[in-house]
Amino acid sequence: MIENAWCELNNSVIEYKGQPVGTIAARDPASDTLNYDQCFVRDFAVSALAFLMHGETKIVRNFLTIMVEPQGKVKYMNCFMAGKGLMPASFKIVKSDGIPQLEADFGEKSIARVSPVDSGLWWLIILRAYVRASGDTTLVKQPAFQQAITLTLELFLESRFDMRPTLLVSDGAYMIDRRMGVYGYPFDLQSLLFAALSAARELLVADDYYHRSITERLTHLCDHLHHYYWLDFDRLNMIYRYKVDGYGSQILNTFNIQPSTIKPALIDWLPAEGGYFAGNVDPGRMDFRYFAQGNLLAIVSSLATQDQSHKIMTLIEQRWHDLIGQMPVKICYPALEGYDWEIVTGADPKNSAWSYHNGGNWPSLLWLLAAAAQKSGHPALAIRALNSAAKRLASEHWPEYFDGHYGQLVGKEARRFQTWSIAGFLAAYQILEQPEHLDLLKFESQTTVRACD
Ligand code: GLC
Repeated sequence: MIENAWCELNNSVIEYKGQPVGTIAARDPASDTLNYDQCFVRDFAVSALAFLMHGETKIVRNFLTIMVEPQGKVKYMNCFMAGKGLMPASFKIVKSDGIPQLEADFGEKSIARVSPVDSGLWWLIILRAYVRASGDTTLVKQPAFQQAITLTLELFLESRFDMRPTLLVSDGAYMIDRRMGVYGYPFDLQSLLFAALSAARELLVADDYYHRSITERLTHLCDHLHHYYWLDFDRLNMIYRYKVDGYGSQILNTFNIQPSTIKPALIDWLPAEGGYFAGNVDPGRMDFRYFAQGNLLAIVSSLATQDQSHKIMTLIEQRWHDLIGQMPVKICYPALEGYDWEIVTGADPKNSAWSYHNGGNWPSLLWLLAAAAQKSGHPALAIRALNSAAKRLASEHWPEYFDGHYGQLVGKEARRFQTWSIAGFLAAYQILEQPEHLDLLKFESQTTVRACD
C-alpha cells in the first residue's frame, strides 16, 4: 500500500520549465475537473511534508520559490488587484504562445469567489519545514524570501477595524472553502495564524521590529484563545451561568454569549476529562462545534498547553466514533442539520449533514492527527486511526472525503486519487515510523508566550 501511495503521489507532480513545482489536487478521470487540476497551496503543504520526510527537498524548494512571484507586492487602491502580501489559493501551468506560464488564482475564479486567507500561512509553515528538513538556510536568507515573509507579516499583523489579536475573515477562507459559518474569528484560522507566526519568527533574519511585533501578537493571541475559546466542563458550566448584556471592562461574559445557545446534547457529549477549543467566538456568538484542523494544530504548535493537549486527545479517544470513525478524521462535529444547515450553509446540498465540510471525514488530516498524537504522547491513537484508514483508502482509490456519522461512505461527490488524501496518509505513516520527523512541524512551548504554559 505504501508503495502504491508513493506511486500515486509521484503521478500527481506538476512540472514547470522541466522542474517539479507542485502537485495537482486530484486526478479523477471520472469527475469534472473544475479547479482540481490546479496546485492548491494548502493541499501542497501536505505533499510537501510527505516529500520532505522522504528526503525529497527539491520539489518543495521549487514550490516555495515560484510562490514568491505571484504574491501581491503593491498596496493598490484598486480592489480588483491581489492585495499586498496575498498569496494565491492555487496555480496551474498554462501555455501562452507555446510558452509555459504560471497562472495564479486568488479566488477570483473560484466557486463563490472565496479568497484564501490560509495560503501565506501555509507557505510560512512549509518554508520552516523545508529549512529544518534540508538544513538549507541560504534560500530563506535571500532578499526575495525575506521580503515575502515581511509582506505576509504586514498583511496579517496590520491593524484593522477591531482591536483584537484574532484575525477577522469572511466565510470559507481556508480548507473549508464554502459557506459553513466559519466567518468572523474561526478557531481553525486563529490556530493556523499562531503556527505560522511562530514559523515566521524563526525564519526572519534578525529584525527587531518584526520579531517584537510577532512576539507581542503571539502572546495576546494565545491569551485570547485560552481565555475565550477553551472549553472543558468547568468552562461550560461557567458559560451556562453567564449573565448577559454587561457593559464595561470588568464583565465576565465579554462577548455577550446567550447561555441558551448551549445545546443539551453538548452537555451530555463533553466528557469530564476532555476539552477542546470552540469553533468560533464573536459578538453574541459562541460556536460550540469542534473543528479538527485547529485543535490538532494547536497541539503541534504548542498553542495548547500540555494539559489542554492531553484533554483534546482524551476527547478524541472517548468520542472516537464521532471524531475519528471508520475513516479518520472528522473535519468538524457535530454537523449542522435542518434549519441550522439551511441558514448557515445557505441550504448547500454539497454540505448536507454529515457530508463534505459539514461533518465529513477527511483522510488529508491524518498527518495532523499523527503529529498531534505523537507530540502529546498518545501515538497509539494515531496508529489505531492509520490502521482504520488503511483498510479502505487505497482500495477505494484515495477518496477526497467520506460521508456518514462515522465516515462509512465514500463521499457523495468525492474525487478519487485526491492528492492530499494520499500525502496525508504517507506523512502520517512516516511520522509514526520515525517520530523525529515531528521536528519539521512542532514548536516547543514558547517561553516568550506567557500564557501558553
Ligand atoms: C476543495 C476543498 C479545499 C481544497 C480543494 C482542492 O475545494 O474544500 O480545501 O483545497 O478542494 O483539493
